[in-house]
Amino acid sequence: MKVLMIVAYKVECFPTQFLALPMPPALVSKLTHNTDVLIIGGGAAGLSLALRIADKAKVTILSKSSLKQGSTYWAQGGIAAVMDAQDSLQAHVADTLIAGAGLCHADVVEYTVARGRECIDWLVAQGVAFSRQSHDATQDGTEATSTSFHLTKEGGHSHRRVIHADDATGKAVFESLVSQVMQHPNIEFVTNNVAIDLVSGKKLGLPHNRCLGAYVLDEDSGTVTTFNARFTVLATGGASKAYLYTSNPDGASGDGIAMAWRAGCRIANMEFNQFHPTCLHHPQDRNFLITEALRGEGARLLLPNGYRFMPDYHPSAELAPRDIVARAIDAQMKKTGCDCVYLDISHKPREFILKHFPTIHARCLTLGIDICTQQIPVVPAAHYSCGGVMVDRNGQTDLENLYAIGETSFTGLHGANRMASNSLLECFVFAFSAAEHIEKKLHATAGNVQFPHWDDSQVTNSDEDIVIAHNWDEIRRFMWDYVGIVRTNKRLQRAKHRIELLQLEIHEYYSNYKVTTGLLELRNLAVVAELIIASAIARKESRGLHYSLDYPDSLDTIADTVLIPANFIEPA
Ligand code: FAD
Ligand code: SIN
Repeated sequence: MKVLMIVAYKVECFPTQFLALPMPPALVSKLTHNTDVLIIGGGAAGLSLALRIADKAKVTILSKSSLKQGSTYWAQGGIAAVMDAQDSLQAHVADTLIAGAGLCHADVVEYTVARGRECIDWLVAQGVAFSRQSHDATQDGTEATSTSFHLTKEGGHSHRRVIHADDATGKAVFESLVSQVMQHPNIEFVTNNVAIDLVSGKKLGLPHNRCLGAYVLDEDSGTVTTFNARFTVLATGGASKAYLYTSNPDGASGDGIAMAWRAGCRIANMEFNQFHPTCLHHPQDRNFLITEALRGEGARLLLPNGYRFMPDYHPSAELAPRDIVARAIDAQMKKTGCDCVYLDISHKPREFILKHFPTIHARCLTLGIDICTQQIPVVPAAHYSCGGVMVDRNGQTDLENLYAIGETSFTGLHGANRMASNSLLECFVFAFSAAEHIEKKLHATAGNVQFPHWDDSQVTNSDEDIVIAHNWDEIRRFMWDYVGIVRTNKRLQRAKHRIELLQLEIHEYYSNYKVTTGLLELRNLAVVAELIIASAIARKESRGLHYSLDYPDSLDTIADTVLIPANFIEPA
């Protein structure tokens, strides 16, 4: 069992805009929604859980802003699962453990990997059209023999085991799952609604500390409603928007992590924010990912002078684990002063490139780059949150009847560095196990508890929205500069001072103005940034994605960083 690095930590108080006020019954019913299972987040994790439980319970899925605000839609490479007779579960486990730099929980890795085939079978049954095998899969000498799926390869994998739908796997998965969700009579999908905070028994002064639902802002009307639920699930995705440059869509502001923290749940391993090595570097586009599968199919990383540098860093060269490739690029950019490095797949036949990477080809072409003949300018960018809300094998958090699944959670699978395409796998596996756990508890769990309505009569509309935009920018810039790929004690302390000041400003702003999506995201992003900084300061070593010039070596003691909020209550 691992030794835990534990940091007791302060927590923001109960939201100032909450007050129990008597209300006319008609208004109460308009502002109150009742459901069995409230799922906050409509990405791979949330949609899958909804479909797995909906035959047994009434489900409501919430998603903020547009449907494409989650990362799932944008996923490219694919889903790692052992589908080939030449491959083995042991090999997938071993690769994941190596990529995780000693910090993965081996039992969780074994559990997740073992359910891979079940996930793929289920996705196929939901209508996902994965790419099928064709002869060019054998071009690098390896062959995917026992399945009709085309299997690609990514960093850290010793075998071709990434199932995909061309280079737009997330879109294929998302569209199939949404289509199933829309047809299910027991599922209500409520878009343009942002969860603000969770409500628990303790907050209401009740004898138990169950999660009872959430306050939710309707982005269209600006009203805040209550969603009362027997079970609440956080499926809100990651927090990479805490960084200036990121592959993630705008919604990745770590809302679930911040809400769980405020509700008294432990958060773990936040210092391990993954930087994807290859995001497009172009003045008109700095968020577009260039999938690792390109390197899996033979693309090489080059300096502006054409020198191929990755063999100098790792025997697997471009297919080394992601932390190593991102750090190597960062080091080369600093050493040579170049703004970016180049990814080159132009030695492959045009028809191979167009067949496997149609999305990337089309997107680059709009910027005047033909990847069949030209190199792609790339830089690392924040991509994935390995840490998150601590959960057990069922996705259960510290708060009874509150679950967390997908990127917002910390299951122990990824350790200090997630291996490519293990994230979507984790979304499905833990959606399945959470659904199974909820199903078992359905009959034994009490009905919905009604809780007070939101009262914003003491606050006004903001006349200074520019403050929100400035604070967003400031956080994201200093996180990039001080809490990025390479860290030092001094930089982390600078970041700590800045976030403490900003937290005061944001808290004051939140206390005085009506909530908007921008304000809520800023408030959450500040919490997440603070947790990342605190975790990075607590780790006195370099391991996986956390690299410190002050502590360049790994310690012998292997430990997770667990942050405990001041309002933590030991689960019963
Ligand atoms: P998301 O898909 O991010 O969905 C989050 C949902 O929560 C959204 O619906 C959002 O609207 C909602 N939400 C958030 N906050 C709130 C709130 N306060 N109130 C209401 N709703 C809220 N992983 C792989 O395994 N393979 C890949 O090939 C791969 N490629 C990737 C490519 C890109 C460009 C990116 C960004 C990531 C990629 N990843 C990949 C990572 C993977 O896509 C994500 O980790 C995964 O999709 C997360 O799914 P999720 O369901 O946890 O969250
Ligand atoms: C990619 O396609 O490179 C992203 C894969 C991942 O993040 O797992």
